[in-house]
Amino acid sequence: MKKILVAYATHAGSTVEVAQTVAEEIAKNNVQVDVLPIDQVKTLEMYDGVVLGAPMIMGWHRGALGFLKKHRNAFRKIPLAVFVMAMSLTQTGETSMNGVPFCIDEKLPKPPVIEGKLNWRERYAQVSNYARPILAAVAPAKPMNIAFFGGCLQYGRLKWWAVLFAMVIVQAQAGDKRNWTAIRAWATSLPAVL
Ligand SMILES: Cc1cc2nc3c(=O)[nH]c(=O)nc-3n(C[C@H](O)[C@H](O)[C@H](O)COP(=O)(O)O)c2cc1C
Repeated sequence: MKKILVAYATHAGSTVEVAQTVAEEIAKNNVQVDVLPIDQVKTLEMYDGVVLGAPMIMGWHRGALGFLKKHRNAFRKIPLAVFVMAMSLTQTGETSMNGVPFCIDEKLPKPPVIEGKLNWRERYAQVSNYARPILAAVAPAKPMNIAFFGGCLQYGRLKWWAVLFAMVIVQAQAGDKRNWTAIRAWATSLPAVL
């Protein structure tokens, strides 16, 4: 039986439920699935495919980038899919980068205030800006695809510096933007590529 790992990193906890939901969908395909936080993953040897998910936290979660760097050699042989949780994404029409297709939750991207002229915050929140460090971390391997989903932000659960960053830079409203239909649809597509 095929064995797939869904590994995740989180800052405030909401990505855990997303990882569990992705695993649940994959498991419907007669596949054995492990769901683990990245720090509990010692080796990838026994897996036929890996899904790695983590939120944007002033750039993609540092631990998740470190995980990709650490296992970049393994990912030359083991297929990888990545998902990114975010509260802010600029609508730019980008559909891939370096041949890696993007899957974007249609409810997440917002059009720029002035068409064709992005302000600094809109430039920061471009999908290519979020994806570039992910692709660099795993190179020369490449993920099969990268998905971007709306995340969940509860200011009451965060330290003051995190609130400041999320309010000033991300300019994200608190709330739960997780689109379970989009998450499940993407997860359903994974057994075919992993
Ligand atoms: C300190 C901090 C920085 C964040 N940075 C970004 C960001 O750069 N871009 C973005 O779209 N969302 C950003 N977010 C929103 C998170 O990615 C989102 O809330 C995510 O769902 C959190 O997942 P978690 O609950 O698993 O930590 C940030 C949130 C925090 C608290």
